[in-house]
Amino acid sequence: MCDKCRGNYYITTPIYYPSAKLHIGHAYCTVATDTMARFKRLQGYNVMFLTGTDEHGQKIEDKAKEAGITPQQFVDNIVTGEKGVLDLWKLMNISYDRFIRTTDDYHVAAIQKIFKKMYDNGDIYKGTYKGKYCKPCESFWTESQLVDGKCPDCGGEVQDAEEEAYFFRLSKYADRVQDLLENTDFLEPRSRVSEMVNNFIKPGLEDLCVSRTSFTWGVPVDFDPGHVVYVWIDALFNYMTALGFENDKYVDLEAFWPADVHFIGKEIVRFHSIIWPAMLMSLDLPLPKKVYGHGWLLLDGGKMSKSKGNVVDPYILAERFGVDALRFFLLRSFPFGSDGNFSNELLINTINVDLANDLGNLVSRTVAMAQKYFGEKLPTEQLADEEKDAELIDQVSGLRDQYEAEMEKFAFQNGLAVVFKVISRANKYIDENAPWVLAKTEEGKPRLARVLYNLLETIRVCGGLLQPFMPDTSAEIARRLGGARMDWGSLNTFGVLPADVATVSGSALFPRIDMEKELAALEELNKPAKPAIEIEPYAEEKVDFDTFCRSDFRAVKVKACQNVKKSDKLLQFTLDDGTGTDRQILSGIAKFYKPEELVGKTLVAITNLPPRKMMGRESNGMLLSAVHTEKGEEKLNLIMLDDAIPAGAKLC
Ligand code: MSP
Repeated sequence: MCDKCRGNYYITTPIYYPSAKLHIGHAYCTVATDTMARFKRLQGYNVMFLTGTDEHGQKIEDKAKEAGITPQQFVDNIVTGEKGVLDLWKLMNISYDRFIRTTDDYHVAAIQKIFKKMYDNGDIYKGTYKGKYCKPCESFWTESQLVDGKCPDCGGEVQDAEEEAYFFRLSKYADRVQDLLENTDFLEPRSRVSEMVNNFIKPGLEDLCVSRTSFTWGVPVDFDPGHVVYVWIDALFNYMTALGFENDKYVDLEAFWPADVHFIGKEIVRFHSIIWPAMLMSLDLPLPKKVYGHGWLLLDGGKMSKSKGNVVDPYILAERFGVDALRFFLLRSFPFGSDGNFSNELLINTINVDLANDLGNLVSRTVAMAQKYFGEKLPTEQLADEEKDAELIDQVSGLRDQYEAEMEKFAFQNGLAVVFKVISRANKYIDENAPWVLAKTEEGKPRLARVLYNLLETIRVCGGLLQPFMPDTSAEIARRLGGARMDWGSLNTFGVLPADVATVSGSALFPRIDMEKELAALEELNKPAKPAIEIEPYAEEKVDFDTFCRSDFRAVKVKACQNVKKSDKLLQFTLDDGTGTDRQILSGIAKFYKPEELVGKTLVAITNLPPRKMMGRESNGMLLSAVHTEKGEEKLNLIMLDDAIPAGAKLC
């Protein structure tokens, strides 16, 4: 720990399954963690922010097989490939300090040692696994845990499983875990505690199956070939192996373990608040100080998931609205501990109201007035007005502490609310003091200078407190305030800017968005891409068999073929139909074939259609083709027969 730091702080996100591209729901947790990490750095902590990917398990093995590549290639693609996990975190401005992949050699070797330690201490033993397995969740369930015979987490089908396996003595730790949950602040929000205790511990905590033999993509149990370590053991210990536990790659265990907080989504609270502490108890290791189970970002009331096809693409949103606006929206609109319904309307409205109207306007109006009335710098001759200024100054001075109290509780929404209350107050202060009136007379100038100074100082403090949420925007605000200080120590003091502060102008921080137009554009972008191949809809109307049989289909050979003058559509065919008399057919396929390509080919014609005149020429029948649309383009292929089929052969 450095001398000047307030202490070390270790915060983690769940490590993500690279089984499909990540969506805005995944970004939600990582943005929250990043905001917390930045907040702690701002406060002066020496922060370790860990994220990564959880790359083993049957789901990945299956998907790789489907794609015809190795599991390693499959995960590499999603983690390091274009628009993969690393790209997404870069886009979202995620300031992680360490990124772990569970396929990293040091982690794999460490997991083997950890497994062996628990085997040696008797907490892992060999038995026979009989139960139910949910493949998508990679979770084992007992009959009693199922809900209507389905997986209690995802509601999906479970399958019978019976095999030789290793077990972890989870039951042994039931009382200690229950005590931890009920009598400490280990798990938050507190509302999640009763769910864990009532649904999982009280019905009887059974030993946990911790090895598999039915697939190979996992950490091998090195003392029993054929077994791989259960993916959740492999995954949970990432929080410690990434610091150097049971490996030499890192040496940060002493400084950062136990973790200050694991941020996780609510569906994985069971793993983090029951299994994880029990395993740490087994190894006699310190427990993390806190597990925080946040809510889900819902779409139309349901969880986003790739399989439901209702995911929201963070790339599209970041490109259209900017990364800071997106980060802000995620934490401003929903209380972190509860579920929140995502919608484009809410996103646009939040940007327009909070960022364009309130924050953006305050900054641009204030800087524009400072420049218009005084040029580059404010004059030092300023006139305070105790009565008119007190409320704003009081609010700004107390803001940092109020904000800090909310942030310490992970109440991001409330932290932002207190800042935006002051921003609104400052906008009102402009109207109350009417700088444009003060500017009209020379005597008004000192008061005008003070009003603008108070506003700039308010912007400095608010901008400073927004740093964890919108790092780029805050940096831009600091620039416009002539490189203003935004360090933690300066944020609870009013009057840090020099009286003759120099301002810098710039374009609107958050241009107002036209809701209707934007919604239409987003809808267009989110429309499912047209299928590569489209076929004509099938006819509803039935044709009776006799009618069909009266159609006379014949093999015909192309003797000659030419373009029809003045028509860019028609080809004129001279055909041998086996009768000894040439048959002429006109066909609108000039766009698809050159006449010379078709001479000599054996085609299919329907021959008993009534004659039809086209461009003054008679057509006696029709050539059959297959038609479809490919990537929006019409395609046509004449039906061609084997040339061994003689002209006139009937098709039936
Ligand atoms: N690999 C495990 C975590 C292991 S941690 C030792 C996992 N991965 S995940 O990719 O499926 O999910 C990662 C995180 O994203 C989870 O915390 C999950 O709750 C979160 N979210 C996924 N979809 C989400 C929403 N729609 N909304 C909010 N969070 C969501 O679980």
